[in-house]
Amino acid sequence: MISDNTIQEIKERIDIVEVVGDFVDLKKSGSSYKALSPFTSEKTPSFFVSPSKQIFKCFSTGKGGDAIEFLKEVESMSYVEALKYLAEKYGIEIDEVDSYSPQNTEKESLYIITSKSNEFFIKNLESQDGQNFAKTYLDHRGFSSDMIKEFGIGYSSKDWNSLFNYLTENGYEEDLIEKAGLIIKKNNKKYDRFRNRLMFPIHNLSGKVIAFGARQIKEDKKQPKYINSPETNLYVKSDVLYGLYQSKNDIRKEDKCILVEGYTDVISLYQIGIKNVVSSSGTSLTNNQIKLISRYTKNITILFDGDDAGLSASLRGMNLILENDLNVKIVSLPENEDPDSLSKKLDESKFKEFLKSRETDLINYKVKILNENYKNDPVKKSDMIFDIVKSISKIPNSIKRSVFIKETSNSLNINENSLITEMNKLLINKNTQKPNKILKEINDNENKIEINNVINHHERECVRMLVNYGKSDFEILGLDRKSFIEYFLREIEDVDFTNKSYIKIIKTFKEEFQQNNIIDINHFLSEKYNDIKNDVIDLSTSKYEISSKWKEKFNIHVTDESDSLKKTTYNNILRLKFRLIKKMINDNLKNLGSDSETYSEEEVINTHNKLKSAEMEIAKQLGNVTSI
Ligand code: UTP
Ligand code: MN
Repeated sequence: MISDNTIQEIKERIDIVEVVGDFVDLKKSGSSYKALSPFTSEKTPSFFVSPSKQIFKCFSTGKGGDAIEFLKEVESMSYVEALKYLAEKYGIEIDEVDSYSPQNTEKESLYIITSKSNEFFIKNLESQDGQNFAKTYLDHRGFSSDMIKEFGIGYSSKDWNSLFNYLTENGYEEDLIEKAGLIIKKNNKKYDRFRNRLMFPIHNLSGKVIAFGARQIKEDKKQPKYINSPETNLYVKSDVLYGLYQSKNDIRKEDKCILVEGYTDVISLYQIGIKNVVSSSGTSLTNNQIKLISRYTKNITILFDGDDAGLSASLRGMNLILENDLNVKIVSLPENEDPDSLSKKLDESKFKEFLKSRETDLINYKVKILNENYKNDPVKKSDMIFDIVKSISKIPNSIKRSVFIKETSNSLNINENSLITEMNKLLINKNTQKPNKILKEINDNENKIEINNVINHHERECVRMLVNYGKSDFEILGLDRKSFIEYFLREIEDVDFTNKSYIKIIKTFKEEFQQNNIIDINHFLSEKYNDIKNDVIDLSTSKYEISSKWKEKFNIHVTDESDSLKKTTYNNILRLKFRLIKKMINDNLKNLGSDSETYSEEEVINTHNKLKSAEMEIAKQLGNVTSI
């Protein structure tokens, strides 16, 4: 258990922009930050972070909450994991970090076991055997002590059970050790999966060890060069990139991610100062891995061995990257070189120069291959052209597509229109399979506007003021200094809200105010308010940033809202009252001429007159304020 004091300390230190910024590429937008949602593969940013309210809101998935909620969603952390992560990030000491108990969730226990194992391997590297066998090899490969430390490289000894014994002696259960992928059970025998190998820990984005890649030290053709952890509860291969934890900040800084094949390529480049580098670790690149990269940059450069296998893997990867609307370049390396071997010959600036001079985009790369190899083979040539058009058709952005079509047409000297015709055929086929996502998004937005009838909209505007400015103080219309909340509650006393969530929100504000508490959004983040939490967050994030239609439709003024707070609030409440009165007038008039005995004609007309004069009164006032 983490003490309440520690939790309090952590919460006070959290800056949501910093926390989210470690996972998502945030761009400043007005007083908040926005980004592409890490939860979907959207094209237009609908993910917002508000530093003043310390919350995030993702409009495309509806997810929202504070920094802890964000970590829970994005990294599937538990509440405790999130707290521990934040404590580490902000250098806050927790009394009991190493709490291994049956009450821990299985995932937490697995994290502890993999991290303990990593510590064990690192210690092993310091041992006599470790020095003799593994450290000598690392020295020979030229890996510096800094890199060994940064990437947590260790050594697994020759013994059959040393890790297993160490872990069980420390109280970890056999069952969990197996679930962490660290031992193999066969014919009633069990033994360590990794023996006599260099150990490369694989980290998740928050820096926790989730798996290992283990390289043989002495070449033995009968054994695989690398043995990797199996997939576990912590480790899903297709969702992980080796090195991303170490390189993510540099990827963002350089606005570019270099993708290489192997563990050693990552470390070698990192060592010479090319730090924006990750590896898909020998498997072909997946959509999820591309999505991971896209949180930090839109630009990927693939650096693959020049052999055939490397080439076809990189071509596949490039198509996938294009489909995800990222920019991709390829650098083919000279024969018999890989990034690791090149890093021994070039220093940082030479390496950068090398990349710059060799980077080609996919289309030009294919055009070059075609021109070099198949110029005089019409069948191969047309196959290749079709292949190029197919790659271009995968790019979601139509402007990019036409640029590439034009380039291809120029460099291959083929009529642009016939390329376009071919591409359109492919596009039409694609679109009949998948409904156009963008169109769907637009329709969804339209529907939202239609569903939100005018009264609900005005109710929303009023409650939005309450949620956002409930704590403010101001002078109302020449009266004494009053708190906003007091003013608000008095003004809406005679208004019946229809929306259930809004009613509950107002009730909560009111009850707390009667106890002399003026609350704000944070009050609603506890479990108790799960049913309205999302509504409160919705209200506290300005939606208008993403929909100019809303602005036009409802004539909403959001600029400097807080500056003209009293006028805006007054205006919003008046608008709501105005709409409600209009509705009452209509409802009242329905009683005229009906067979109902409830109201006499005289009563209806009396009510009508009263309502009409109230309406006029409000209209007059609105006339004074609508020009704000
Ligand atoms: P490489 O053979 O290029 O290995 O495989 P490497 O990382 O460059 O290592 P060195 O430089 O030869 O020491 C590239 C990647 O493919 C995966 C590993 O992730 C490796 O980093 N691989 C390779 C395996 O998983 N198993 C293998 O047996 C070989
Ligand atoms: Mn290699």
